[in-house]
Amino acid sequence: MCGIVGYIGNNQAPSILIDGLSKLEYRGYDSAGVAVHDGENINILKTKGRLSNLVKLVIENPLTGTLGIGHTRWATHGVPSDVNAHPHISNDNMIAVVHNGIIENYVDIKNELAAEGCVFLSDTDTEVIAHLIDKYYKECLDFEDAVFKAVNRFEGAYAIGIICKDCPDKLIAVRKGSPLVIGKGNGENYIASDIPALLNYTREVYFLEEDEVAVLTKDSVAIYDKNRNRVEREIYHVTWDIEAAEKSGYAHFMLKEINEQPKIVRETILNRVPENGDGIDLENIKLDRKDLENIDRIYMVACGTAYYAGLIGKHLIEKICRIPVISEVASEFRYSDPIIDDRTLLIVVSQSGETADTLEALRISKKNGARVLAIVNAVGSSIAREADDVFYILAGPEIAVASTKAYSAQVAAMYILACHIALELGKMTKDEFKEIKEQLYMLPSKIELILQKQDVEKKLAEKYMNVKNVFFIGRGLDYLVSKEGSLKLKEIAYLHSEAYAAGELKHGPIAMIDENTLVVAIVTQEELIEKTISNIKEVKARGAKTMAVAMKGNTKIAEVADDVIYIPRTMGILAPILANIPDQLFAYYMALNLGTDIDKPRNLAKSVTVE
Ligand code: M6R
Repeated sequence: MCGIVGYIGNNQAPSILIDGLSKLEYRGYDSAGVAVHDGENINILKTKGRLSNLVKLVIENPLTGTLGIGHTRWATHGVPSDVNAHPHISNDNMIAVVHNGIIENYVDIKNELAAEGCVFLSDTDTEVIAHLIDKYYKECLDFEDAVFKAVNRFEGAYAIGIICKDCPDKLIAVRKGSPLVIGKGNGENYIASDIPALLNYTREVYFLEEDEVAVLTKDSVAIYDKNRNRVEREIYHVTWDIEAAEKSGYAHFMLKEINEQPKIVRETILNRVPENGDGIDLENIKLDRKDLENIDRIYMVACGTAYYAGLIGKHLIEKICRIPVISEVASEFRYSDPIIDDRTLLIVVSQSGETADTLEALRISKKNGARVLAIVNAVGSSIAREADDVFYILAGPEIAVASTKAYSAQVAAMYILACHIALELGKMTKDEFKEIKEQLYMLPSKIELILQKQDVEKKLAEKYMNVKNVFFIGRGLDYLVSKEGSLKLKEIAYLHSEAYAAGELKHGPIAMIDENTLVVAIVTQEELIEKTISNIKEVKARGAKTMAVAMKGNTKIAEVADDVIYIPRTMGILAPILANIPDQLFAYYMALNLGTDIDKPRNLAKSVTVE
């Protein structure tokens, strides 16, 4: 999604803005721009395309000034173009704005302003923000009053950064439904849509809450709620390093994040499954026997990769705890009139904690009395703040658009959660837990082993780089892993791929199989191996190339599939976390061969803060 940065202080704003924007590139964007106040006027440079285009423009047309706002745009209203790029400015060059999100009632406001003589230059919804604030500013000549008045009229979800020509000592930020953090410096302050943009300058941040407005000068930050009451906010100290948000020698963030997985999974597990002890430590998450007995329905709701991690969770809770769980993608759940009351537990899963549909699912559920447990990565994110309980997965910043380490940590969280519920409800004995615990502790080193052999996936990606269609197949948990493998390939290699329950192939899709098709079979579930082998034979007989991911020692599979990637042996229920790693690596190397933009795949955004 779009990225916002803003600066007010004593240093030159342009380089700080561009540096900040470069740290937000991972969010996905199609154009970029900055507005800088030179003490008298606001000057804007903006352009379609990569940030390097903007840098070139700034070198050719140097800007000076110690107050400014910058933006990377991911088009929603209006095509990617120079004119639609942000910042947008009012007709009299008084008010300049950058904006993330959508102003849903912009057409009404636009018509109203146009009737009053306002000239619109772009196709964006954003432009109405600049013109409406300007209209009110002309009436009252008070920047803050004008912003508050305008904001009361906007419907939708947004984060906005605003500067005013008459106020070279003020930067205003507004947040409703789209994340915004404020960086506190010494004699300088910042705004940004995400922490990495600030880390070169400060580690002290305030998270803006819903409907809040922040007024920044170089020496102060004042936060107001929607009724314009002053709000006190605690400073959050960012503990992770800028290196965590940098590539550290890897060619891509995605590869770096794939390789971080042993460490991440180890931390997620160790944090909740103490070595000394015979249970799970969910710390402040209140989910004991009494709470669980009061629950008669569990929903598992998320989007994309987080949804696929949730599917594994559903399977585990049903299998280990014998409690039915309804899994749903958030964009469907929110409009499905779900049956929710105070006996419902909603589990939402989200890396960013800002996904609009997931957040809305949470809000609807809470409104109807449900308890909400959020499995989240981004600390202090909207979903984390609004949920009743938060299970932080501790994966650190995930920069590549394609989620990898967050998925593994989310799946690890699902194991922990399922074991906790089972132990609380007496569905698992201490001995059974001990066995799972031992196996859980071994997962990180097993992931390490898979990563050490990534030449295997690299070679297979060379071998299969010209296939036109890919099917990922599996049964049970293997089918659920297939879904994530298929999404990764689509997302970063732009290759048509589908995940199918292996037994369903012959009910239609098998008609598509030919010699240009690759079928990737995930075959880790002991009791289902023979069945999936039959399905591999069926597609082979129709010309498909076949590749399998199987546990070490499965020799039968090597007799059938053209290629086999072996993963270390583990318990069946723990296999998904291991079986998914070869899929991640295969997708990465396929994308590398096909020359796509791996970390910032076309049309995609890291955190989807619009519906
Ligand atoms: O931040 P979230 O986990 O809520 O994001 C959900 C999806 O948008 C996300 O997983 C998306 O599918 C990824 N790009 C997949 O790699």
